[in-house]
Amino acid sequence: MPALSASAPGKIILFGEHSVVYQQPAIAVPVMEVKAIAIASPAIGKPSNTVQVIAPDIEINSTLKTLPLDHAISMAIDLTLKELGISDYPAFNLRISSTIPLAAGLGSGASVSVAIIRVVSNFLGQTLSDEVVSQLAYEVEKIHHGTPSGIDNSVVTFAQPVYFIKDRLLETFPIGKPFTIVIGDTGIKSSTAVSVGDVRKAWQADQKVYEDFFESCGTIAKKAREHIENGEIKKLGPLMDENHALLQKMNVSSKELDTLVLASRDAGAWGAKLSGGGRGGNMIALVDEDSSENVADALMNTGAVQTIITKVGN
Ligand code: MEV
Repeated sequence: MPALSASAPGKIILFGEHSVVYQQPAIAVPVMEVKAIAIASPAIGKPSNTVQVIAPDIEINSTLKTLPLDHAISMAIDLTLKELGISDYPAFNLRISSTIPLAAGLGSGASVSVAIIRVVSNFLGQTLSDEVVSQLAYEVEKIHHGTPSGIDNSVVTFAQPVYFIKDRLLETFPIGKPFTIVIGDTGIKSSTAVSVGDVRKAWQADQKVYEDFFESCGTIAKKAREHIENGEIKKLGPLMDENHALLQKMNVSSKELDTLVLASRDAGAWGAKLSGGGRGGNMIALVDEDSSENVADALMNTGAVQTIITKVGN
C-alpha cells in the first residue's frame, strides 16, 4: 500500500458570516495560498486496527485509541471508518499539518477534517464523494462549533466560490471578473463557537433588532453575488463596508479588526470587513491588484502579524 496524501484549502467569508447561521445567504471563497495536508502511510509491523496520529503543529503523536473520543481528529477518522463500514483495517500512520492559521476565521478546523476524511477513505480503498466528505466534516464542526451553518466545510471541500444558504442545496456561481483580496491577520486567536454563541444569546434577548441585522446582511450578500457575476468589482467595496458596520453592531468586531479595516481603506482599499467568526482572527480588504502590496504593507504597519494576497476567480 503506497503512502497517500490529501489536502484542502483555507477559506474566507466575503459576505454574510453570522447571519448565515440564521438562514441568510452568504458568499465564501477558497484561499488556495494556505492548506491542510494529511498523509496516510502503512505502519509496518504494528497490529491491525492501529492508527498512529502525528500532528506536530498541535503536539500530537499518539494512537487513535488514546486520543479523546470527541477530539476533532478522532471524530474525523471514526466517522470516516463508520461511513465506509470498516472495522478491520491495516495499521497506518496519519500525519497532519497545516499552513492555515488556527482559530483565525480561515477555516482551519474544517480544512483539517476534510483532508483527514479524504486521505483515510482513499487509503482504505474507497473514495467518498465531495458531498459525503463535506457532510462528515460538518458532523465534526457541529461538535466543535455549536451551531455551525455548514459554510466552512462546504467551501473547503468543493474549493470553489459558494453562495450558501443553510440547509439548502449548495450553489456555486460564475465570477464575472477575477478580483484581488488582501487578508490581514490580527494575530488574536478567537473561538468561532464563542462568538456564534454570543450572537445567539443577543438574538434571543432582542429578536427584532437582530433579525433586522441578519436580513440586511442577507440583502448585501444577494447584491454582492450579482455584482460578482457581472464583474462589477468596485461596487463590492461599499457592500463590504456596510457588512462590517452590521457586524460591529452585532458585537463581533474588535479594536484590532477595526484598526486594520480602517488602515486598509486609508491605503486605498475599495472596501474592507472582518471575515469569519470575528473578535480577532482575520479581516479582508478588496483592492485594485496594483495597490495590493501597499495595502498589505499598511496592514503590517498597523499591527497585522501576517497578510495573504489572494485572487478570487483565477
Ligand atoms: C465562520 O466561518 C462563519 C460563521 O458564520 C459561523 C458559521 O457559519 O458556522 C461565523
